[in-house]
Amino acid sequence: MGDVWSLYSEKVMEHFRNPRNVGEIENPDGIGHVGNPVCGDIMELYIKVDDSTITDAKFKTFGCGAAIATSSMVTEMVKGKSISEALDISNRAVAEALGGLPPIKMHCSVLAEEALKSAIENYHARSKRRDNGSKSNT
Ligand code: FES
Repeated sequence: MGDVWSLYSEKVMEHFRNPRNVGEIENPDGIGHVGNPVCGDIMELYIKVDDSTITDAKFKTFGCGAAIATSSMVTEMVKGKSISEALDISNRAVAEALGGLPPIKMHCSVLAEEALKSAIENYHARSKRRDNGSKSNT
């Protein structure tokens, strides 16, 4: 039993126990919805973007402790980053920032990366719609 506890870094446990940025953003600029059909865990990630910079990020995760810790970390990592810098954040970078994850839990960090990418895609789709709307109004 002690061996299983030693699989998780202090940082993973800390973000699991005290996750940052939990919740929703009102009027977000992008929302990502992802899920893993194998384990059934789901994640929602909200971003606020100002002038191509992510100014805020929040999440809601129905999932395992590693999914909660990686969601928490990814929302911390993206704040203040440009959209293109945020797209470069890999699941490995998130796991490394948490002091590593056991191999059996690496897929949880993939969910965090996918949630971020999905929120950015949604941001682009919304901006396109906004641009088209403003063009047709002029
Ligand atoms: Fe499903 Fe961790 S077990 S994301």
